[in-house]
Amino acid sequence: MKWTKNSWRNYQIKQQPIYKDQTRLNQIIAKLEKLPPLVFAGEVDMLKKDLAKVSEKKAFLLQGGDCAESFVNFGADNIRDMFKVMLQMAIVLTFAGSCPIVKVGRVAGQFAKPRSSDFEEQNGLKLPSYRGDIINGFEFDENLREPDPQRMLEAYYQSATTLNLLRAFSKGGLADLRVVHKWNLGFLKKAELDKKYEELSEKITQALAFMQACGIIDSPNLSQTAFYTSHEALLLPYEEALTRVDSLSGKIYDCSAHMLWIGERTRNPNEAHVYFLSGIQNPIGVKISSKFDIDEIKKLSFMLNPSNDLGRLNFIIRMGHDEIEKSLPKLFKELKKEGLNILYSIDPMHANTVKSGNFKTREFDKIMKELCSFFEIAISEGVYPGGVHLEMTGQNVTECVGGSLNVTQEELFKRYETQCDPRLNADQALELAFLIADLLKKARLN
Ligand code: PEP
Ligand code: CO
Repeated sequence: MKWTKNSWRNYQIKQQPIYKDQTRLNQIIAKLEKLPPLVFAGEVDMLKKDLAKVSEKKAFLLQGGDCAESFVNFGADNIRDMFKVMLQMAIVLTFAGSCPIVKVGRVAGQFAKPRSSDFEEQNGLKLPSYRGDIINGFEFDENLREPDPQRMLEAYYQSATTLNLLRAFSKGGLADLRVVHKWNLGFLKKAELDKKYEELSEKITQALAFMQACGIIDSPNLSQTAFYTSHEALLLPYEEALTRVDSLSGKIYDCSAHMLWIGERTRNPNEAHVYFLSGIQNPIGVKISSKFDIDEIKKLSFMLNPSNDLGRLNFIIRMGHDEIEKSLPKLFKELKKEGLNILYSIDPMHANTVKSGNFKTREFDKIMKELCSFFEIAISEGVYPGGVHLEMTGQNVTECVGGSLNVTQEELFKRYETQCDPRLNADQALELAFLIADLLKKARLN
Protein backbone atom coordinates (compact mmCIF):
# COMPACT_ATOMS: atom_id res chain seq x y z
CA MET A 1 0.00 0.00 0.00
CA LYS A 2 1.33 3.43 -0.95
CA TRP A 3 1.93 5.85 1.93
CA THR A 4 -0.23 8.96 1.86
CA LYS A 5 -0.72 11.50 4.62
CA ASN A 6 -4.01 9.88 5.57
CA SER A 7 -3.22 6.18 5.08
CA TRP A 8 -2.48 5.89 8.84
CA ARG A 9 -6.27 5.75 9.14
CA ASN A 10 -6.13 2.10 8.01
CA TYR A 11 -4.11 1.15 11.08
CA GLN A 12 -4.87 0.53 14.71
CA ILE A 13 -4.26 3.62 16.77
CA LYS A 14 -3.88 4.39 20.48
CA GLN A 15 -4.36 7.49 22.62
CA GLN A 16 -6.84 9.34 20.39
CA PRO A 17 -9.83 11.40 21.53
CA ILE A 18 -13.30 10.44 20.43
CA TYR A 19 -14.86 13.41 18.66
CA LYS A 20 -18.64 13.29 18.80
CA ASP A 21 -19.18 15.61 15.85
CA GLN A 22 -17.28 14.08 12.92
CA THR A 23 -18.57 16.68 10.45
CA ARG A 24 -17.12 19.48 12.57
CA LEU A 25 -13.84 17.57 12.88
CA ASN A 26 -13.60 17.25 9.10
CA GLN A 27 -14.37 20.95 8.62
CA ILE A 28 -11.55 21.90 10.99
CA ILE A 29 -9.10 19.56 9.29
CA ALA A 30 -10.06 21.02 5.91
CA LYS A 31 -9.45 24.50 7.30
CA LEU A 32 -6.06 23.55 8.79
CA GLU A 33 -5.04 22.03 5.48
CA LYS A 34 -5.39 25.45 3.85
CA LEU A 35 -3.42 27.33 6.50
CA PRO A 36 0.28 28.08 5.95
CA PRO A 37 2.86 25.54 7.13
CA LEU A 38 4.50 26.46 10.44
CA VAL A 39 7.98 25.45 9.36
CA PHE A 40 9.72 25.30 6.01
CA ALA A 41 11.21 22.13 4.52
CA GLY A 42 14.64 23.77 4.19
CA GLU A 43 14.74 24.38 7.95
CA VAL A 44 13.83 20.75 8.63
CA ASP A 45 16.70 19.65 6.39
CA MET A 46 19.00 21.98 8.31
CA LEU A 47 18.02 20.32 11.58
CA LYS A 48 18.65 16.92 10.03
CA LYS A 49 22.15 18.05 9.06
CA ASP A 50 22.76 19.41 12.56
CA LEU A 51 21.61 16.13 14.09
CA ALA A 52 23.83 14.22 11.68
CA LYS A 53 26.73 16.18 13.19
CA VAL A 54 25.65 14.94 16.61
CA SER A 55 25.77 11.37 15.33
CA GLU A 56 29.28 12.06 14.06
CA LYS A 57 30.21 13.17 17.60
CA LYS A 58 30.74 16.73 16.46
CA ALA A 59 27.82 18.27 18.35
CA PHE A 60 25.36 17.66 21.21
CA LEU A 61 21.56 17.88 21.34
CA LEU A 62 19.71 19.93 23.95
CA GLN A 63 15.96 19.37 23.74
CA GLY A 64 13.67 20.87 26.34
CA GLY A 65 10.53 22.73 27.24
CA ASP A 66 7.11 22.25 28.77
CA CYS A 67 5.57 18.86 29.33
CA ALA A 68 2.43 20.40 27.87
CA GLU A 69 1.98 23.90 26.51
CA SER A 70 -1.25 25.47 27.58
CA PHE A 71 -3.63 28.14 26.38
CA VAL A 72 -3.87 29.93 29.74
CA ASN A 73 -0.12 30.13 30.41
CA PHE A 74 0.57 31.42 26.92
CA GLY A 75 2.46 34.69 26.86
CA ALA A 76 5.61 36.42 25.68
CA ASP A 77 7.40 36.31 29.05
CA ASN A 78 7.13 32.54 29.34
CA ILE A 79 8.50 32.05 25.85
CA ARG A 80 11.30 34.55 26.39
CA ASP A 81 12.37 33.05 29.71
CA MET A 82 12.36 29.50 28.37
CA PHE A 83 14.42 30.69 25.40
CA LYS A 84 16.90 32.43 27.71
CA VAL A 85 17.38 29.37 29.93
CA MET A 86 17.95 27.21 26.87
CA LEU A 87 20.58 29.70 25.67
CA GLN A 88 22.26 29.72 29.07
CA MET A 89 22.32 25.94 29.21
CA ALA A 90 23.61 25.74 25.66
CA ILE A 91 26.46 28.13 26.36
CA VAL A 92 27.49 26.18 29.46
CA LEU A 93 27.49 22.99 27.38
CA THR A 94 29.28 24.56 24.41
CA PHE A 95 32.04 25.74 26.69
CA ALA A 96 32.48 22.37 28.37
CA GLY A 97 32.12 20.21 25.29
CA SER A 98 33.86 22.56 22.86
CA CYS A 99 31.21 21.64 20.34
CA PRO A 100 28.03 23.17 18.91
CA ILE A 101 24.81 22.53 20.81
CA VAL A 102 21.74 21.80 18.69
CA LYS A 103 18.82 23.53 20.42
CA VAL A 104 15.37 22.04 20.03
CA GLY A 105 12.40 23.30 22.08
CA ARG A 106 9.43 21.23 23.19
CA VAL A 107 7.46 24.21 22.04
CA ALA A 108 5.14 25.71 19.43
CA GLY A 109 3.01 22.59 19.17
CA GLN A 110 3.58 20.47 22.31
CA PHE A 111 -0.07 20.21 23.25
CA ALA A 112 -1.32 16.62 22.99
CA LYS A 113 -0.72 14.24 25.90
CA PRO A 114 -0.89 10.46 26.14
CA ARG A 115 -2.68 9.35 29.31
CA SER A 116 -2.51 6.17 31.35
CA SER A 117 -6.29 6.10 31.72
CA ASP A 118 -9.09 7.16 29.33
CA PHE A 119 -11.23 8.43 32.21
CA GLU A 120 -10.79 10.33 35.44
CA GLU A 121 -13.15 9.91 38.38
CA GLN A 122 -13.78 12.49 41.11
CA ASN A 123 -16.46 12.13 43.80
CA GLY A 124 -18.36 9.58 41.76
CA LEU A 125 -18.27 11.64 38.54
CA LYS A 126 -16.46 10.02 35.63
CA LEU A 127 -15.21 12.25 32.78
CA PRO A 128 -12.78 11.79 29.87
CA SER A 129 -9.17 12.35 30.97
CA TYR A 130 -7.47 15.62 30.10
CA ARG A 131 -5.47 15.00 26.91
CA GLY A 132 -3.86 18.39 26.40
CA ASP A 133 -5.26 21.79 25.41
CA ILE A 134 -5.34 20.86 21.71
CA ILE A 135 -7.98 18.23 22.62
CA ASN A 136 -9.96 19.18 25.73
CA GLY A 137 -9.93 21.38 28.82
CA PHE A 138 -7.86 20.85 31.98
CA GLU A 139 -10.63 21.66 34.49
CA PHE A 140 -12.73 18.78 35.71
CA ASP A 141 -15.89 19.95 34.01
CA GLU A 142 -18.20 17.92 31.83
CA ASN A 143 -18.33 20.42 28.94
CA LEU A 144 -14.65 21.27 28.99
CA ARG A 145 -13.54 17.65 29.07
CA GLU A 146 -15.46 16.91 25.86
CA PRO A 147 -12.90 16.75 22.98
CA ASP A 148 -13.43 19.80 20.77
CA PRO A 149 -11.82 19.95 17.29
CA GLN A 150 -11.92 23.76 17.34
CA ARG A 151 -9.04 23.57 19.83
CA MET A 152 -6.76 22.41 17.01
CA LEU A 153 -7.13 25.81 15.39
CA GLU A 154 -6.30 27.61 18.62
CA ALA A 155 -3.25 25.40 19.08
CA TYR A 156 -2.19 26.15 15.50
CA TYR A 157 -2.44 29.92 15.96
CA GLN A 158 -0.69 29.80 19.34
CA SER A 159 2.10 27.75 17.74
CA ALA A 160 2.38 30.26 14.90
CA THR A 161 2.75 33.25 17.22
CA THR A 162 5.15 31.35 19.50
CA LEU A 163 7.30 30.44 16.54
CA ASN A 164 7.20 34.01 15.31
CA LEU A 165 8.64 35.24 18.60
CA LEU A 166 11.24 32.47 18.75
CA ARG A 167 12.43 33.36 15.24
CA ALA A 168 12.66 37.01 16.27
CA PHE A 169 14.66 36.13 19.39
CA SER A 170 16.98 33.80 17.46
CA LYS A 171 17.81 36.24 14.70
CA GLY A 172 17.01 39.65 16.14
CA GLY A 173 19.69 40.17 18.78
CA LEU A 174 18.64 38.36 21.97
CA ALA A 175 20.78 35.34 21.06
CA ASP A 176 23.84 37.53 20.36
CA LEU A 177 26.83 36.07 22.22
CA ARG A 178 27.87 39.59 23.14
CA VAL A 179 24.84 39.86 25.42
CA VAL A 180 25.48 36.56 27.18
CA HIS A 181 25.22 38.35 30.57
CA LYS A 182 21.66 39.41 29.80
CA TRP A 183 20.38 35.87 29.49
CA ASN A 184 20.51 35.59 33.25
CA LEU A 185 16.96 35.61 34.57
CA GLY A 186 17.75 37.52 37.69
CA PHE A 187 16.09 35.21 40.16
CA LEU A 188 18.87 32.74 40.70
CA LYS A 189 18.54 32.05 44.40
CA LYS A 190 21.78 30.26 44.86
CA ALA A 191 24.59 32.82 44.69
CA GLU A 192 27.07 30.09 43.86
CA LEU A 193 25.24 29.16 40.67
CA ASP A 194 24.85 32.80 39.72
CA LYS A 195 28.57 33.32 40.23
CA LYS A 196 29.44 30.30 38.15
CA TYR A 197 27.37 31.59 35.25
CA GLU A 198 28.76 35.12 35.58
CA GLU A 199 32.31 33.77 35.52
CA LEU A 200 31.57 31.83 32.38
CA SER A 201 29.94 34.86 30.73
CA GLU A 202 32.99 36.91 31.61
CA LYS A 203 35.33 34.40 29.98
CA ILE A 204 33.23 34.41 26.83
CA THR A 205 33.08 38.19 26.75
CA GLN A 206 36.86 38.42 27.14
CA ALA A 207 37.51 35.82 24.47
CA LEU A 208 35.22 37.65 22.06
CA ALA A 209 36.85 41.00 22.78
CA PHE A 210 40.27 39.46 22.21
CA MET A 211 39.26 37.89 18.91
CA GLN A 212 37.60 41.09 17.79
CA ALA A 213 40.75 43.07 18.62
CA CYS A 214 42.73 40.64 16.47
CA GLY A 215 40.22 41.04 13.66
CA ILE A 216 39.43 37.33 13.58
CA ILE A 217 35.73 37.27 14.18
CA ASP A 218 33.17 38.10 11.65
CA SER A 219 30.57 35.37 11.73
CA PRO A 220 26.76 35.53 11.75
CA ASN A 221 26.97 32.72 14.34
CA LEU A 222 27.91 35.40 16.85
CA SER A 223 24.74 37.40 16.59
CA GLN A 224 22.14 34.72 15.86
CA THR A 225 21.37 31.12 16.54
CA ALA A 226 19.25 28.27 15.22
CA PHE A 227 16.39 27.28 17.49
CA TYR A 228 14.23 24.39 16.32
CA THR A 229 10.78 23.23 17.43
CA SER A 230 9.48 19.77 18.28
CA HIS A 231 6.51 18.00 19.82
CA GLU A 232 5.02 14.58 20.26
CA ALA A 233 3.19 13.62 17.05
CA LEU A 234 0.23 12.19 18.92
CA LEU A 235 -2.88 13.77 17.47
CA LEU A 236 -2.64 12.47 13.92
CA PRO A 237 -5.56 14.39 12.33
CA TYR A 238 -3.66 17.60 13.21
CA GLU A 239 -0.34 16.25 11.93
CA GLU A 240 -1.99 15.03 8.75
CA ALA A 241 -3.48 18.47 8.07
CA LEU A 242 -0.06 20.13 8.37
CA THR A 243 1.72 17.59 6.19
CA ARG A 244 2.72 19.13 2.89
CA VAL A 245 4.66 18.39 -0.29
CA ASP A 246 7.72 20.61 -0.57
CA SER A 247 7.49 22.44 -3.87
CA LEU A 248 11.27 22.43 -4.33
CA SER A 249 12.03 18.75 -3.75
CA GLY A 250 8.64 17.09 -4.13
CA LYS A 251 9.25 15.39 -0.77
CA ILE A 252 6.74 15.20 2.06
CA TYR A 253 7.25 17.07 5.34
CA ASP A 254 5.15 17.41 8.46
CA CYS A 255 5.26 21.19 8.67
CA SER A 256 3.84 21.43 12.22
CA ALA A 257 7.40 21.33 13.67
CA HIS A 258 11.00 20.67 12.68
CA MET A 259 11.21 17.45 14.67
CA LEU A 260 8.46 15.07 15.81
CA TRP A 261 8.67 12.28 18.31
CA ILE A 262 6.62 9.18 19.11
CA GLY A 263 5.87 8.46 22.74
CA GLU A 264 6.56 5.30 24.68
CA ARG A 265 2.89 4.32 24.48
CA THR A 266 2.38 4.74 20.73
CA ARG A 267 5.54 3.31 19.17
CA ASN A 268 4.17 -0.08 18.12
CA PRO A 269 5.60 -0.62 14.60
CA ASN A 270 2.34 -2.20 13.43
CA GLU A 271 0.23 0.78 14.42
CA ALA A 272 -0.69 4.18 13.02
CA HIS A 273 1.88 6.50 14.63
CA VAL A 274 4.99 4.70 13.39
CA TYR A 275 3.37 4.22 10.00
CA PHE A 276 2.49 7.92 9.69
CA LEU A 277 5.96 9.09 10.67
CA SER A 278 7.62 6.64 8.29
CA GLY A 279 6.32 8.73 5.38
CA ILE A 280 7.63 12.18 6.31
CA GLN A 281 11.13 13.65 5.95
CA ASN A 282 11.48 15.24 9.42
CA PRO A 283 13.93 13.97 12.04
CA ILE A 284 12.03 11.54 14.28
CA GLY A 285 12.44 10.82 17.97
CA VAL A 286 11.26 7.63 19.65
CA LYS A 287 10.90 7.30 23.41
CA ILE A 288 12.17 3.99 24.80
CA SER A 289 11.54 2.69 28.30
CA SER A 290 13.05 -0.33 30.03
CA LYS A 291 10.09 -2.40 28.85
CA PHE A 292 11.25 -2.40 25.22
CA ASP A 293 11.06 -5.48 23.04
CA ILE A 294 14.23 -5.61 20.97
CA ASP A 295 12.61 -7.04 17.85
CA GLU A 296 10.00 -4.30 17.94
CA ILE A 297 12.73 -1.67 18.24
CA LYS A 298 14.64 -3.14 15.33
CA LYS A 299 11.51 -3.24 13.22
CA LEU A 300 10.64 0.36 13.88
CA SER A 301 14.23 1.42 13.22
CA PHE A 302 14.03 -0.09 9.73
CA MET A 303 10.59 1.36 9.11
CA LEU A 304 11.53 4.86 10.20
CA ASN A 305 14.98 4.95 8.68
CA PRO A 306 15.14 2.48 5.78
CA SER A 307 18.14 4.18 4.17
CA ASN A 308 19.97 4.46 7.51
CA ASP A 309 20.40 8.24 7.13
CA LEU A 310 22.41 10.15 9.69
CA GLY A 311 20.33 12.65 11.64
CA ARG A 312 16.98 11.00 10.93
CA LEU A 313 16.42 8.81 13.98
CA ASN A 314 16.82 9.78 17.63
CA PHE A 315 16.17 7.23 20.35
CA ILE A 316 15.22 9.02 23.54
CA ILE A 317 16.01 6.75 26.46
CA ARG A 318 13.71 7.07 29.50
CA MET A 319 14.24 4.04 31.65
CA GLY A 320 14.44 5.44 35.16
CA HIS A 321 17.37 5.80 37.57
CA ASP A 322 16.75 2.31 38.96
CA GLU A 323 16.28 0.44 35.65
CA ILE A 324 18.69 2.00 33.21
CA GLU A 325 21.78 0.04 34.30
CA LYS A 326 19.99 -3.22 33.77
CA SER A 327 18.28 -2.42 30.47
CA LEU A 328 20.32 0.03 28.42
CA PRO A 329 23.51 -2.04 27.80
CA LYS A 330 21.40 -4.71 26.11
CA LEU A 331 19.72 -2.18 23.82
CA PHE A 332 23.07 -0.64 22.81
CA LYS A 333 24.65 -4.04 22.18
CA GLU A 334 21.79 -5.33 20.03
CA LEU A 335 21.46 -2.19 17.94
CA LYS A 336 25.20 -1.89 17.44
CA LYS A 337 25.17 -5.32 15.80
CA GLU A 338 22.73 -3.99 13.19
CA GLY A 339 25.00 -1.10 12.23
CA LEU A 340 22.17 1.41 12.57
CA ASN A 341 22.80 5.13 12.63
CA ILE A 342 20.95 6.26 15.72
CA LEU A 343 21.38 9.36 17.80
CA TYR A 344 20.90 8.44 21.46
CA SER A 345 19.72 11.00 23.98
CA ILE A 346 18.46 10.72 27.53
CA ASP A 347 15.12 11.84 28.96
CA PRO A 348 15.77 11.52 32.71
CA MET A 349 12.31 12.87 33.54
CA HIS A 350 9.56 10.48 32.49
CA ALA A 351 10.54 7.34 34.34
CA ASN A 352 11.43 9.19 37.53
CA THR A 353 8.02 10.62 38.35
CA VAL A 354 6.67 10.02 41.87
CA LYS A 355 3.67 11.13 43.89
CA SER A 356 4.09 13.49 46.82
CA GLY A 357 0.67 13.96 48.40
CA ASN A 358 -1.52 15.26 45.58
CA PHE A 359 1.41 16.38 43.45
CA LYS A 360 3.36 14.53 40.81
CA THR A 361 7.02 15.39 41.30
CA ARG A 362 10.56 14.36 40.36
CA GLU A 363 13.68 14.42 42.49
CA PHE A 364 16.64 16.33 41.14
CA ASP A 365 19.05 13.67 42.44
CA LYS A 366 17.23 10.85 40.68
CA ILE A 367 17.19 12.84 37.44
CA MET A 368 20.92 13.36 37.83
CA LYS A 369 21.48 9.71 38.65
CA GLU A 370 19.81 8.54 35.44
CA LEU A 371 21.80 11.11 33.46
CA CYS A 372 25.11 9.89 34.95
CA SER A 373 24.22 6.27 34.27
CA PHE A 374 23.36 7.11 30.66
CA PHE A 375 26.75 8.74 30.07
CA GLU A 376 28.64 5.94 31.85
CA ILE A 377 26.86 3.13 30.00
CA ALA A 378 27.21 4.87 26.64
CA ILE A 379 30.95 5.34 27.14
CA SER A 380 31.53 1.78 28.26
CA GLU A 381 29.51 0.42 25.30
CA GLY A 382 31.33 2.63 22.81
CA VAL A 383 28.25 4.72 22.01
CA TYR A 384 28.21 8.53 21.85
CA PRO A 385 25.86 10.03 24.47
CA GLY A 386 24.40 12.53 22.04
CA GLY A 387 21.91 14.60 23.95
CA VAL A 388 19.45 15.35 26.72
CA HIS A 389 15.68 15.73 26.61
CA LEU A 390 14.21 17.69 29.53
CA GLU A 391 10.92 19.03 30.83
CA MET A 392 11.75 22.50 32.05
CA THR A 393 10.58 26.09 32.16
CA GLY A 394 12.15 29.51 32.48
CA GLN A 395 9.83 30.25 35.40
CA ASN A 396 10.57 29.97 39.08
CA VAL A 397 8.09 27.14 39.65
CA THR A 398 8.13 24.53 42.42
CA GLU A 399 7.37 21.25 40.67
CA CYS A 400 10.54 19.14 40.95
CA VAL A 401 12.19 18.73 44.36
CA GLY A 402 15.87 19.29 45.20
CA GLY A 403 18.48 21.24 43.30
CA SER A 404 19.72 24.81 43.77
CA LEU A 405 16.61 26.22 45.33
CA ASN A 406 16.28 23.07 47.36
CA VAL A 407 12.56 22.89 46.72
CA THR A 408 11.11 20.60 49.38
CA GLN A 409 8.06 18.32 49.22
CA GLU A 410 6.26 20.79 51.52
CA GLU A 411 6.91 23.68 49.12
CA LEU A 412 5.47 22.05 46.01
CA PHE A 413 2.13 23.84 46.42
CA LYS A 414 3.74 27.31 46.19
CA ARG A 415 4.09 27.49 42.42
CA TYR A 416 2.86 24.24 40.99
CA GLU A 417 1.68 25.38 37.56
CA THR A 418 2.15 22.51 35.16
CA GLN A 419 -0.94 21.02 33.55
CA CYS A 420 0.79 17.70 33.22
CA ASP A 421 4.24 16.58 34.41
CA PRO A 422 6.54 18.46 36.83
CA ARG A 423 9.21 20.60 35.16
CA LEU A 424 12.63 21.74 36.29
CA ASN A 425 12.55 25.43 37.15
CA ALA A 426 15.12 27.82 35.69
CA ASP A 427 17.61 27.35 38.54
CA GLN A 428 17.32 23.60 38.50
CA ALA A 429 17.72 23.54 34.72
CA LEU A 430 20.85 25.67 34.82
CA GLU A 431 22.33 23.68 37.67
CA LEU A 432 21.65 20.51 35.73
CA ALA A 433 23.39 22.03 32.68
CA PHE A 434 26.57 22.59 34.73
CA LEU A 435 26.45 18.97 35.88
CA ILE A 436 25.79 17.68 32.35
CA ALA A 437 28.67 19.87 31.18
CA ASP A 438 31.09 17.83 33.31
CA LEU A 439 29.70 14.59 31.91
CA LEU A 440 29.87 15.88 28.36
CA LYS A 441 33.46 17.04 28.79
CA LYS A 442 34.48 13.57 29.95
CA ALA A 443 32.52 11.87 27.17
CA ARG A 444 34.13 14.04 24.51
CA LEU A 445 37.65 13.43 25.85
CA ASN A 446 36.95 9.71 25.73
C1 PEP B 1 6.44 13.24 27.08
O1 PEP B 1 7.58 13.37 26.61
O2 PEP B 1 5.76 14.21 27.42
C2 PEP B 1 5.91 11.88 27.29
C3 PEP B 1 4.63 11.65 27.53
O3 PEP B 1 6.86 10.95 27.28
P1 PEP B 1 6.78 9.36 27.24
O4 PEP B 1 6.10 9.00 25.96
O5 PEP B 1 8.23 8.99 27.23
O6 PEP B 1 6.05 8.90 28.46
CO1 CO C 1 5.78 14.82 30.33
